[in-house]
Amino acid sequence: MGGMRRIGLLTGGGDCPGLNAVIRAVTKTALGEGLQVVGISEGFTGLLTEQFRELSEEDVSGILPRGGTILGASSRGDPLIEVLPKPPEGRPARLDRTGEAARNLERAGIEALFVVGGDGSQTIAVRLAGHGVPIVGIPKTIDNDLMGTDVSFGFDSALLTATEALDKLHTTAESHHRIMALEVMGREAGWIALMAGIAGGGDVILIPEIPFTFEAVAGDVEDRREKGKRFSIVVVAEGARMPDGETVGRTSPAGNLILGGIGAAVAGRLEALTGVEARVTVLGHLQRGGTPSPFDRILATRFGVKAVEMALAGDFGRMVGLHGREIGSVTLEEAVAAKHLVSKDGESVRFARAIGVSFGNTPA
Ligand code: F6P
Repeated sequence: MGGMRRIGLLTGGGDCPGLNAVIRAVTKTALGEGLQVVGISEGFTGLLTEQFRELSEEDVSGILPRGGTILGASSRGDPLIEVLPKPPEGRPARLDRTGEAARNLERAGIEALFVVGGDGSQTIAVRLAGHGVPIVGIPKTIDNDLMGTDVSFGFDSALLTATEALDKLHTTAESHHRIMALEVMGREAGWIALMAGIAGGGDVILIPEIPFTFEAVAGDVEDRREKGKRFSIVVVAEGARMPDGETVGRTSPAGNLILGGIGAAVAGRLEALTGVEARVTVLGHLQRGGTPSPFDRILATRFGVKAVEMALAGDFGRMVGLHGREIGSVTLEEAVAAKHLVSKDGESVRFARAIGVSFGNTPA
């Protein structure tokens, strides 16, 4: 896009480590190219409330190691869809304000929009692109459930937190000969549980992609005891399904599903079935907070620089991604077409099984 001068940048959805690193990389690169960068506060909500402010070198100085996002993140759900509690007769109950957001960007002279976000945010980005907004997507999520990139930033930092937690749980589990269940995040994807389970020496890993039974898990815990291993570490993904196929959680006042509670259910049933004392730890938002790992800082920086390069080349409607060792891009549509989930027969699960990890079932 010849002569482009002004880029808008927002961070959508839940926060994660590395957002400030990407804000810094985009701003420094763009300013170096003579462009202006407009930070949009509070994610997509800021497009409607027109919370726009120009970012300077100074604004991004010193933010690289900081968790969270200096721009603020969107609330959950889709801020550009207004749900009308009492719609006027004959009018739809949902008001799509995407066009209004696009007009606000145009009025502010913002010629390209960088959307840093997970699958929900990139789905909104597709809609904005449909209203003529030139978009570059940048993938972030601790869940690692976004297609179009081998990994998103945030995941490695979350993994570090979960692995450290498992290391700590090991020492107390050993001392008391207990079953220790650790519930980790990830929504429908089992990546954090699987990879932290491998890195932290979990004995059992329960993930949404692999159905389990309590009897199978209890049997594996008992087998360990017969071999003289009197403790067991069970890593449970928050989105793992109970044997009846149900997830465990609640609906928030805004109508969103908040997962949580399966760790306690697993610990309780295992204690009842094995007679071994069990405890649960829910890692929760600790996984999203704090400083990004070096890997995430570097990945976020690479994504930010690449996004500016793409904007300068007029390469819009695409999301940057890590493909092998290179930073490339895919169309936004490809990025949101499906979720990136753990393959139950894939290499990571196979290797984990090879070293004796139980998934609470017997592979077919
Ligand atoms: O998508 C990231 C994530 O941390 C999920 O792993 C988790 O289910 C969810 O967000 C929690 O969201 P909230 O911040 O709204 O509690």
